[in-house]
Amino acid sequence: MRVVMLGAPGSGKGTQAQRLQREHGMLQISTGDLLRRAVADRTPLGMKAKAAMDAGELVSDDIVLGMIEERIGQPDAAAGFILDGYPRNRTQAADLEKVLEKRGIAIDAAVLMDVDFDVLMKRLTGRRTCSATGAVLNIYFSPPEDLEACRKAGGELVQRADDNEETISNRLKVYQRDTAPLIEYYRDKGLLKTIAATGDVDDVYASLKRALGLG
Ligand code: AP5
Repeated sequence: MRVVMLGAPGSGKGTQAQRLQREHGMLQISTGDLLRRAVADRTPLGMKAKAAMDAGELVSDDIVLGMIEERIGQPDAAAGFILDGYPRNRTQAADLEKVLEKRGIAIDAAVLMDVDFDVLMKRLTGRRTCSATGAVLNIYFSPPEDLEACRKAGGELVQRADDNEETISNRLKVYQRDTAPLIEYYRDKGLLKTIAATGDVDDVYASLKRALGLG
C-alpha cells in the first residue's frame, strides 16, 4: 500500500506512521527526518536546507524531490510506503505523481489527520524525541512510563530546533497557505480519507487502521 499522510504540524503524522511501521511493517518515509539527518551530518544538501527549516519555511521543491526519488527507489520501498510530510504543495504533488508513474505505481490513499488548531501549539512545544530509541514523545501527553522508558534505555529527551513558538507559528501559516490545498487535490482524485486526530493516540490509531482497511 502507498499512502500519503496529510495534516498540520503536530497533527500526529509521524507518531502514527511510526506505529504503522512498527506494528504493520509499513515503511515510513519522512522528508522531515531525512532533512534533519542531512543537517546533522552537515551534507551539502543539509547545509542548503537548514535556513529554511530554522525559519519554518519549506525547503526547495527540487531538493526534496531528489531525496524522495532516491528513497522510493530503494529495495525496502518496493512493497509500499507511508509518505510522512511529502508532498507539501501542488508542485510536489505533481512531481510525486510523475515519479510514481515512471515506476508504474500510484498512491492508494491520502489520509488527512484532522486536528483542532488550538491543540497544535501545546503538542509541538511539548514534543521530545528519545535520543536512544527515536520514539516521538510528549512531556504533556505521553504516559510517564513511556518517558521513563527512554531514560532507562540511556536516552535523553531532545527538543527539535524548530519546535519553538515563533517557528511553529510560521510552520502553521505555511501549512495553511501551501499544504492545505492538497486536501482538495486528493479529494478530487477520490483518494482522500479524513480521520479525527484530536483524541487519544490509541483512538487515532484505531481510526487510521480502519480508514486504511487494516482492521
Ligand atoms: P516535518 O518534520 O515534516 O514537520 P511537520 O510537518 O511540521 O510535522 P511535525 O513533525 O511537526 O508533526 P507531526 O504531524 O509528525 O506530529 P508528531 O507525530 O511528531 O518538517 C520539518 C521541516 O522540514 C519543515 O518545516 C520544512 O522546513 C522541512 N520539510 C519537511 N518536508 C518537506 C517537504 N516535503 N518540502 C519542503 N520542506 C520540507 O506529533 C507531535 C507531538 O504531539 C508529539 O510530541 C506527539 O507525541 C504528540 N501527539 C501526537 N499525537 C497525539 C495525540 N493524539 N494526542 C496527544 N499528543 C499527541
